Amino acid sequence: MPEQPERIRGWTHRLKVCVPLPVEPSEVRDVSTWLDMTKDQPNPLREGLSTRAVPQPCAIVIFGATGDLTHRKLIPALYNLAADGELPPAVTVVGFARRPKTDEEFRNQLGETTRQFSRQEVRDDIWKTFSQSLFYHQSEFEDEGGYRSLVKRLDQIDEERGTRGNRLFYFAAAPEQFEPILKNLKAAGLNTAKKGSWARVIIEKPFGRDLASAQELNRVVSNSFSEDQTYRIDHFLGKETAQNILVLRFANAIFEPIWNARYIDHIQITAAETLGVEGRAGYYETAGALRDMVQNHLLQLLCLVAMEAPTDLSADSIRDEKVKVVRSLRRYRADEIAKWVVRSQYTAGAINAEPVPAYREEERVNPNSETETYVALRLLLDTWRWSEVPIYLRVGKRLPKSATEISVHFKKAPMVLFNRDSIEHDQNVLVIRIQPDEGISLRMMAKIPGTSLRIEPVKMDFHYGTSFGKASPEAYERLLLDAKSGDATLFARRDEVEEAWAFIDSIENAWSGKDAPPLTFYPAGSWGPEEADELLARDGRAWRRL
Ligand code: BG6
Repeated sequence: MPEQPERIRGWTHRLKVCVPLPVEPSEVRDVSTWLDMTKDQPNPLREGLSTRAVPQPCAIVIFGATGDLTHRKLIPALYNLAADGELPPAVTVVGFARRPKTDEEFRNQLGETTRQFSRQEVRDDIWKTFSQSLFYHQSEFEDEGGYRSLVKRLDQIDEERGTRGNRLFYFAAAPEQFEPILKNLKAAGLNTAKKGSWARVIIEKPFGRDLASAQELNRVVSNSFSEDQTYRIDHFLGKETAQNILVLRFANAIFEPIWNARYIDHIQITAAETLGVEGRAGYYETAGALRDMVQNHLLQLLCLVAMEAPTDLSADSIRDEKVKVVRSLRRYRADEIAKWVVRSQYTAGAINAEPVPAYREEERVNPNSETETYVALRLLLDTWRWSEVPIYLRVGKRLPKSATEISVHFKKAPMVLFNRDSIEHDQNVLVIRIQPDEGISLRMMAKIPGTSLRIEPVKMDFHYGTSFGKASPEAYERLLLDAKSGDATLFARRDEVEEAWAFIDSIENAWSGKDAPPLTFYPAGSWGPEEADELLARDGRAWRRL
């Protein structure tokens, strides 16, 4: 029997049902208030209508507990959930790692880093209580004995803290450690749970580095845990606005009828970062931007934008539709890759007027490295809905701004009335801002006040922060809660991951072949190489300015 959370599966039970306040037509005066009309008015209907699946008490065992992810993301996320009253008090964290350390040392170190990385300021009283739920278990990953003692420790925690035999194993260790950890968990009997309890595993990226290694990893995982127990994390899916894409598309009647090749000219998806490799060169040198960001995060966003409506909101119905999008990606012929895919690497430059070194000068980077830190590509989906609609993706490090967004560019209005003396920006563009300043805006044409008929684009803008009056939770907060509730909707399924790798492999293979297109370069702090602009210019289009 597949596991079920305590209440209905799916997304609906995570959504606050927002019933708009009645608004008189006369109140809608200024376009800037569009979608924002309930902004400062307390809406008694908004609160209390959430029917969230209950996250259950459990022990979270983190493999790789002394690493960056645990310090920067996982513990701050759990702290924030605790501070917001979202974490069942019995939730307990057991850090599993090699270095000798006492519980007290572990807690103190995490206290320091949580103060540094937490979304909200850390309150001493809350930290004091929360930190009592953090424990450290020292063992080599290959040492069977370490797992036998883990069993005893978890049983004791069940008794003392009420974790009810529920186990969530979080793989934040290096991927080469996954296999011994999985084998040892199975040998210790930790891959199955006692009756009435559950055991689940969360696997961090990178989930393989090509199709073959992803399949092998899936095989290894499935030797110990079933697909129902396996949660492959893609933290972009936990971002608030990523979750809002389906709501925007399928809870509003106005978008879906025009969400197709007939009305949409093209789509752009951008993930720009000012950061460089930040001490992760060891990993990044073997990955590059295509594997690091496109295979997972950008293709996931594409799926949400391009998928058909699922039959219901269960995890599998949604993932069934997403995987069809990846499957329908038109494969490039080897000789098309140079034309439609741009790969590039940053040279020295400046970010916010601060000089930064070239990628090849970064610590632990090969001075002749051919690793790309920027990719731009033009995709086509072979479906009726998206027939011949170009989808442009770009992702890069050391760009002038950190911003992730999806922009949907609609076709121009017919050239009959106002467009005769064509003004430059005359398309409607719907922008979904994933981060920062999460929200949605729609660009449309408006008449400039005055006696003559002059037209200019204006923006109708919705900001999460002002409309809902509270900061969005961090992606990891949401995803950790979902895993505790048994809701896999925002996690990648085996077939999604493998299909995405099959597509990425077709590009990587061409890049490593003898006719590989040359790597291009862009100065840090610029918007990427000229070739990326040419990619769109060839189609008579340009990247949206962020
Ligand atoms: C990670 C990539 O998955 O996502 C990083 O490995 C990247 O290279 C990061 O910096 C971006 O995530 P976010 O949430 O900071 O936009």
